[in-house]
Amino acid sequence: MIALEPSEAIIRRVAELLESEIGLRPESALRARLRRCIRDELAVLGLDFERYLRALGASASLRQALLNRVTVQETGFFRHPEHFEILAQHILPTLPQPLSIWSAGCANGQEAFSLAMLLDELGIDGRVIATDVSTSALLRTNAASYAAREITGLSPERIARHLTPVGQAWEVNPSIRARVSTVHHNLIESVPHRVRSSSVVFCRNVLIYFSDQHARGFLDRVADALPQAWMLLGAAETIWSIGDRYDTVRLGDTYAYRPRSVSGGRVTGGALPARVAASQVGAGHADDVAAIAILAEAGRESLASGDPAAAVVSFRKWAYLAADDALAHLHLALALEAMNDRPSAQRAFGAAGRLLGADPARHDYAIDGYSPNELYKLLDAKQQELPQ
Ligand SMILES: C[S@@+](CC[C@H](N)C(=O)[O-])C[C@H]1O[C@@H](n2cnc3c(N)ncnc32)[C@H](O)[C@@H]1O
Repeated sequence: MIALEPSEAIIRRVAELLESEIGLRPESALRARLRRCIRDELAVLGLDFERYLRALGASASLRQALLNRVTVQETGFFRHPEHFEILAQHILPTLPQPLSIWSAGCANGQEAFSLAMLLDELGIDGRVIATDVSTSALLRTNAASYAAREITGLSPERIARHLTPVGQAWEVNPSIRARVSTVHHNLIESVPHRVRSSSVVFCRNVLIYFSDQHARGFLDRVADALPQAWMLLGAAETIWSIGDRYDTVRLGDTYAYRPRSVSGGRVTGGALPARVAASQVGAGHADDVAAIAILAEAGRESLASGDPAAAVVSFRKWAYLAADDALAHLHLALALEAMNDRPSAQRAFGAAGRLLGADPARHDYAIDGYSPNELYKLLDAKQQELPQ
């Protein structure tokens, strides 16, 4: 008889396989998702768990089907708009044309098409190479057709300019599609030839799912293969000590990264970009809001200049003034971790996790577009890394 629920041992074995296959961090928050995906795969295949595991080891197409299910395709047009702003204002004007941009971990294509739209609007001779390990994500990118709920990041002007309604869906216009090509690529493997002439890499909200070793390996390979490139990461992803291969470059309201030999700037590591808006601190007094912005910035600067003790002082004050702000506790935890004060870091990660769980809607805004789920996973992983 076929068992209905995969045992913990089966889930652990599949998690190990996925870590070696696509770098997926084997964390407890993932278990429920894995359990569901394994169940769904077995329902399709009609195999029992042991036979499924054996088949998985032997069949690349079964592994591909599983990772199509397991990977998270959460994305959107012009997601984290500040990255597109700095690209348009600070980065693209400095680059020779024709140019290419690598959308690494492109999901269903909205990121790649947003980049293509921007190139079109700026009259830039450029193309976008969209890569992903999920073949179903690449099929969706190639289809370039989106439901109304999937185009919410686009202004009415952009919808009118770049999309055409077809039935219930919206299709990306051929002029934008022509700028985007797709490549099936696993980021834990070597940098593919097709993207080696890219001058910008967008790799956002992908490394957050990787184990540290795989995230670091990817960043090192990009620094070697594309030493001139600008790298845009998700805010939470700077946590993986990007510092020793990349410089952090502050542009406008956010940050970009460059392999160190290029920019000659200062070295930073371990810090999250702090974007502190008045609404992040709820009904706080205006003086508090100003103080918080200064403290957050000062802490980040201290961390960047290699003084985590000073960063702890600033972030502690921030967390005191904005006691219900998960981001404040997260920064404090990172600074404590940099000081090797593991028990205190553990407590601060715990506080950030509890706050995030307590009021996800509020923090969806506060973490600047990151879903509570994405940040929650990160916190969970951090807590597992730090023994009590
Ligand atoms: C949350 S989406 C991010 C999409 C987009 N970059 C954004 O920020 O909106 C993560 C994507 O990374 C892809 N991914 C996960 N592991 C990967 C790997 N090892 N190689 C390539 N892509 C991977 C997933 O399939 C998924 O499409």
